[in-house]
Amino acid sequence: MIEQPARISPSSLPENPRRTFLVRVIQGVHTTIGATLAFVLGGAALAPGLTRRERLWLSAGDLSALRDGEPRAVTLRVARQDGATEAVDRRVVFLVRSGDGGVRALDSTCTHLGCRTRVNADALQIECPCHGGVYDLEGRVVAGPPPRPLDELPTRVEGTRILVQV
Ligand code: FES
Repeated sequence: MIEQPARISPSSLPENPRRTFLVRVIQGVHTTIGATLAFVLGGAALAPGLTRRERLWLSAGDLSALRDGEPRAVTLRVARQDGATEAVDRRVVFLVRSGDGGVRALDSTCTHLGCRTRVNADALQIECPCHGGVYDLEGRVVAGPPPRPLDELPTRVEGTRILVQV
């Protein structure tokens, strides 16, 4: 007759300090990974709401300085908090009087690779010096590689003062 080995249940095993230590180390690693993931994913979910910048209306000059069909480059200074200090970004926009008495503000940043565009007053168009992108005075692409029109910023006129939202 073959003798069967006695069955041993896990709870009847004597406490092994080495095994207990390893189990605690593994639990600690799992807890650390979980906390790190919660921190990273929670931060990613909350960050857009915390970093959303307030939209500002900035004065961009007087309406009387604009002539029909002549774009005018204006540099806007946009203050923003950068850690403990305040930084000032400069943003160049082209103001163009629109037919309805309003003003159009075109961002001067080329939509191809981000070069600063400039107005060609003779040709009445906006040109990018980097790769030959050309836009009309409404910001539409006329030639070259830009994939889309220049960005347009909201404007309003108060009295004769032009305000641009950045
Ligand atoms: S960056 Fe303006 S055309 Fe390429």
